[in-house]
Amino acid sequence: MTYVSESFWHDAVNKATTDLFTFGYKHIVKPNFVFNHTPDVAHDQMIEFCRVTGNIPPLMWLLREMLNYTDPVLETSVMGVDFANPFGLSAGLDKNCDMPVLMDNAGFGFETVGSTTSRPCAGNPKPWFHRLPEYDSMMVHVGLANDGSDKVIARAEQAWTKARSLQVSVSIARTNDDLAGDIDEGIEDYRISLERAAGRSAMVEINVSCPNTRAGEPFTESPENLDRLFSVLDTVDRPQPTLVKMPLNKSWEEFRDLLAVLAEHNVQGVSIANLQKDRTGLEIPRDWEGGLSGGPTYRASNELVRRTYREFGDRFAIAGIGGVFTPEQAYAKIRSGASLVMFISSLMYRGPQQITVLKRGLASLLKRDGFAHVSEAVGIDA
Ligand SMILES: Cc1cc2nc3c(=O)[nH]c(=O)nc-3n(C[C@H](O)[C@H](O)[C@H](O)COP(=O)(O)O)c2cc1C
Repeated sequence: MTYVSESFWHDAVNKATTDLFTFGYKHIVKPNFVFNHTPDVAHDQMIEFCRVTGNIPPLMWLLREMLNYTDPVLETSVMGVDFANPFGLSAGLDKNCDMPVLMDNAGFGFETVGSTTSRPCAGNPKPWFHRLPEYDSMMVHVGLANDGSDKVIARAEQAWTKARSLQVSVSIARTNDDLAGDIDEGIEDYRISLERAAGRSAMVEINVSCPNTRAGEPFTESPENLDRLFSVLDTVDRPQPTLVKMPLNKSWEEFRDLLAVLAEHNVQGVSIANLQKDRTGLEIPRDWEGGLSGGPTYRASNELVRRTYREFGDRFAIAGIGGVFTPEQAYAKIRSGASLVMFISSLMYRGPQQITVLKRGLASLLKRDGFAHVSEAVGIDA
């Protein structure tokens, strides 16, 4: 295989297309086709667009030829899974698994499908989203709407099997509906979905930190509850590695106690972190419900990545998430201890070429600093 980075012409086309997409998204697509609609409508249209275009092979070929930047410095192996690059789509944008073909051809290293739940789930009443462009942030109050893990995991398996290089992870959460009962009911909900996912994706991510559900977050409220959950999940035989999606708004002591529990279980990675609940210093209408993505998550998330890496070293692979808009920000997460980096908000605010902007930029930062592989930079600032 020839890498784009090693072919003068392919590299030049890739760079020019990325710049063109960046300009076109900012000045044409975003104002006229995305931000002129409410975020709920724009979100539905984006999913439909991905579903339709993913079925047009010549378009996917073109996308791949123009946008997919490949470079050996970005290749990495984490938790026994091989990635073309460390960048992934974070959980929540592709709840029902409509986007993998596009993600694969655009050159994502992986995508996290879901979060999905054992029963189909309508989620919270709309609006689900509010835009906060002044903070590069989205207020999210979806409440885990999805088609149910039975269907979503079957789609994820098919997408993973067919993908050229995309690794597919499935995020599993607890159903947010009126049937949600006590802790044991919640544990059984997770167990059912994990059983369905066993062996059918590259990774699974257990989401214990959704801030927008009726049942709250009992599994991050105390180490004992988390221990009960994972004692049951340990009984599900599965070949793929398991990550846990961690909450952002915990003191380090509380966060560390949760990690200490996970270290005793069949958990290989932690995804740091979920949405920001703290609105301090931000001007946000009081009646807007939900958690914040993007800018307001960046610093707190980096701090947790750094401390986790420092204290737990190689025990967990870390997926760093939150407010990654530039290659420098992705690099900072990696240097703080993240082996993988996920994002959503930067796609919404900057456009689909963002994956290429991040890959090209990260490759050049790594080479500037003398690293032959991205894995060599993991945690060197921690
Ligand atoms: C539209 C949207 C929906 C989300 N839904 C989920 C979800 O279902 N499960 C989950 O674990 N995280 C969910 N999140 C949180 C993201 O996965 C991520 O942790 C957070 O947005 C920070 O990353 P970002 O700053 O790159 O957006 C959602 C975020 C957004 C913006």
